[in-house]
Amino acid sequence: AEQNKLLKERIMELKKERNAIILAHYYQRDEIQEIADFRGDSFLLAQKAAETDADVIVFCGVHFMGESAKILAPGKTVIIPDERAGCPMADMVNVDGLRALKQQHPNAKVVAYINTSAEVKSETDICCTSANARKVIESIDAEEIIWVPDKNLGDYVSKFTNKKMIIWEGYCNTHDMLTVKDVEEMKAAHPNAQFVVHPECRPEVVQLGDFVGSTTAIIKYCRESECQEFIVGTEDGTGYQLRIDSPDKTFHFATKYLVCPNMKVNNLKKVVRCLETMQPEIYVTPETAEKARLSLERMLQVK
Ligand code: 13P
Ligand code: SF4
Repeated sequence: AEQNKLLKERIMELKKERNAIILAHYYQRDEIQEIADFRGDSFLLAQKAAETDADVIVFCGVHFMGESAKILAPGKTVIIPDERAGCPMADMVNVDGLRALKQQHPNAKVVAYINTSAEVKSETDICCTSANARKVIESIDAEEIIWVPDKNLGDYVSKFTNKKMIIWEGYCNTHDMLTVKDVEEMKAAHPNAQFVVHPECRPEVVQLGDFVGSTTAIIKYCRESECQEFIVGTEDGTGYQLRIDSPDKTFHFATKYLVCPNMKVNNLKKVVRCLETMQPEIYVTPETAEKARLSLERMLQVK
């Protein structure tokens, strides 16, 4: 605790020196969420990156989030605590595979979950996050949609549209691990609890949800609901904000395995080091960034 206090003080000093802001995803360790200027889901953090007038953005999340920040704020320096914090789902789709699929469906528009590399984004028409996926799909003027890379979120949004969706076979290792059996056991143990679930979970698990939504939507729902007890079907870092917003309510994570190891690679020491050395810095080639930016900006414009 004493060491964390010193690290936090050092971060505050460095932040001032560098004119930096710290953005932290809800899946980051508590100690990182505590020092963030903004905590949020991937949508809110992309917005904050686009709007900031700081010189430096420290992005505590996974690699694609830092890249999206850099693309939306090309004049800023974007640094991350550890470049090994990647997203396995984002790595499940590559440019060559996507190009081949586009050739097979020349009339389709391509929607990319923000969990993709800058290169993949540059081959797409519009991005989305779990918070706005349904609205983004509605906004598209094509009858056919290629959807990358999350098959679970793709299945979920396909239920709200008549458009034909061609869905890539990617998934989030963390959310996809949750099973119907896990949820049924938890429901039996906590019969008064509502089950709130992220759409990156498997369709048969999502179907059991009393509420389905992005991390932010889940936090808001739990805060506003009359229910006092919840079984949570998303990553365990979300507990930090759930407990701040709803201190008197009880939260049971659906399993102890709802942990994204990539998100947990970051820690306070690494935040200090990146602010001291200004490394690792995110770099996206200008050609890729320009195309990917169109796709991200279209997403930010969807109301
Ligand atoms: P949201 O931030 O959109 O809820 O997405 C969850 C996620 O898995 C981010 O990596
Ligand atoms: Fe990727 Fe899943 Fe981790 Fe999010 S929680 S960064 S989607 S692996």
